[in-house]
Amino acid sequence: MPRHLFVTTALPYANGKFHIGHIMEYIQADIWVRFQRMQGHAVDFVCADDTHGAPIMIAAEKAGKTPQQFVADIAAGRKPYLDGFHISFDNWHSTDAPENHALARQIYCDLRDIPASEGGSLIARKTIEQFFDPAKNMFLPDRFIKGECPKCHAKDQYGDNCEVCGAVYAPTDLIDPVSVLSGVRPELKSSEHYFFKLSDPRCVEFLQNWTQDGRLQPEVANKVKEWFSVRTNPDGSTSEGLGDWDISRDAPYFGIEIPDAPGKYFYVWLDAPIGYLASLKNLLDKRSQDYAAYMAQPDLEQYHFIGKDIVTFHTLFWPALLHFSGRKVPNKVFVHGFLTVNNGEKMSKSRGTGLDPLKYLSLGMNPEWLRYYLAAKLSARNEDIDFNADDFMARVNSDLIGKFVNIASRAAGFLTKRFEGKLTHNFGASGAALLREVRETEPQLRKLYEEREFAKAMREIMLLADKVNAYVDQNKPWELAKEDANNEALHQVCSTLINCFTVLARYLAPVLPQLAQAVGTLTGSNLQEWGQSHIDVAAIQAYTHLMQRVTPEQLDALFEPPAPTEVKLIPGGEAIAPTISIDDFVKIDLRIAKIVNCEAVEGSVKLLRLTLDVGEGRMRNVFSGIASMYKPEDLVGQLTVLVANLAPRKMKFGVSEGMVLAASHADEKAEPGIYILNPWPGAQPGMRIH
Ligand code: MSP
Ligand code: ZN
Repeated sequence: MPRHLFVTTALPYANGKFHIGHIMEYIQADIWVRFQRMQGHAVDFVCADDTHGAPIMIAAEKAGKTPQQFVADIAAGRKPYLDGFHISFDNWHSTDAPENHALARQIYCDLRDIPASEGGSLIARKTIEQFFDPAKNMFLPDRFIKGECPKCHAKDQYGDNCEVCGAVYAPTDLIDPVSVLSGVRPELKSSEHYFFKLSDPRCVEFLQNWTQDGRLQPEVANKVKEWFSVRTNPDGSTSEGLGDWDISRDAPYFGIEIPDAPGKYFYVWLDAPIGYLASLKNLLDKRSQDYAAYMAQPDLEQYHFIGKDIVTFHTLFWPALLHFSGRKVPNKVFVHGFLTVNNGEKMSKSRGTGLDPLKYLSLGMNPEWLRYYLAAKLSARNEDIDFNADDFMARVNSDLIGKFVNIASRAAGFLTKRFEGKLTHNFGASGAALLREVRETEPQLRKLYEEREFAKAMREIMLLADKVNAYVDQNKPWELAKEDANNEALHQVCSTLINCFTVLARYLAPVLPQLAQAVGTLTGSNLQEWGQSHIDVAAIQAYTHLMQRVTPEQLDALFEPPAPTEVKLIPGGEAIAPTISIDDFVKIDLRIAKIVNCEAVEGSVKLLRLTLDVGEGRMRNVFSGIASMYKPEDLVGQLTVLVANLAPRKMKFGVSEGMVLAASHADEKAEPGIYILNPWPGAQPGMRIH
């Protein structure tokens, strides 16, 4: 029976490019989705940008853009990653799209307007006190307040927890709090907030059941169970059970306005998961399909792939919002662990990553290597996995290519040269037995894929590949090929190999869609459907290389550190250097220098030798590459600027005791010209430049 599946991955924040952790999540989900499609099931696989919230609003302001423009620019950069790694989303949308505004408001109203006969509203209003930035005229999220930790007195800690001692507290506990946005001391100000009544007995009962009925991974269900008994409050104290959830934020906020509540917006995490539905609705609209009818299908299955850091939102708030607004709840939430790179730290949202996905692609590295490598490591549990460069090379080159891809290259040549590419259907006894074994592994692999036990599935497939290779070694086609008398045996062996290879390619198709496509063309087989069609290859086309090996040079290039910090280009000019602090700047001692003497340097067309007075009671000898622009006699007596504390440098013509400042184009060869600085009248030799 074909199933109907609605599958999502977490919606990435629209405040930055994808990192390899995002790509891992998409690859995991994509393998599962492709597997389901190959079983003949209908899958709608969607995602969207998570666009709202204070951090994005502030990032947009810094970038000098409207939030809408800012998130649109981020969205415009998504496609190369998704196409590049063969991620087969049916739709990519935005939480700021009209569908999401409408759905979020509707869901909220449904929760607010639950009739008394059904227990009454699940929305409550409470006035709370919060830090307010009087300079920016806005309430501050905890992350935008810094101060001294009340426990260990570490300076410069965030408003919600201390990164030094690990204490959890409320921003009001911070000593000497300051707003990260303006640097001013925030003030306490009260405001009315809207809450979703998660502590309501209806919610607690529903969630206790929903989270413990076997739909969640056991380790996730166990973790969630704890939240029903104890909870840590922002001030570090603990309370019993689930607390109500603050779902509103005050203007200015980039988000969705709460109905009948001017100046109040939904907290980003309220509308973010609703974005799953908005993206689906947008997809259905494009297909002229009815959203309500779609959601009403009794056999519709809904699945969310997420990382372990966002479990609360998906196993408490989200199912409760859906259930009590009268909507379908997720069948399952699939939680994965974090990807680390070369045993590095987990790539947090703010920190950089060790493996840039676009760089990977731009180096010509095959996306299916990464898909295979991740598949070979992923299980149904939410444990972290590590991308290790050596391990990656071994798995791709030894397993994927050495064991699997090579099967085809060992057989295809003989078939083309000796049998016009035609295969026999007579495989001989051992060939037939091998092919049967390969075919009969399908139910086992189907189960492993279904359960997201991809590593186990890859292991099974590689065990089959080992058996096929053992068959090659026993039958030695290269030996058979030496004697015409062995023609039939050679034909049988090579035909067996191509059939086994093609079946294995079908097993790997969810992981390696492009390779499977190529094998399908090579063998004239349908690798996109499991089950139904039995693979029995009649003929092959001329063999071309299916996949290259990874080279150490590629991995070296991949992990070569990027330029120190991001640089910004000014139109037509040189990149602005990374930001420095005033402390960095004051390290450079710039002085007004008087050019007491100046002469050409024999043997150099570029250099002039300057004798400089910087008020030290001695003269300095400095070489400067300005001979193309200035005649020595024109400079004598002039004032200029010297880097006075630069370490002396020994040059061919003598020691240079400092450096004269001069301006030039980035590309001096293309646009020659170098101009020394000349202070305004009044500056005296020895004055420091601040
Ligand atoms: N915007 C929220 C999700 C809203 S869902 C309605 C968010 N965005 S995120 O960009 O920070 O993360 C998106 C997904 O990437 C999450 O599932 C997160 O767990 C996952 N990952 C982030 N870093 C990761 C790794 N290093 N490894 C694997 N997945 C990681 O959270
Ligand atoms: Zn501390």
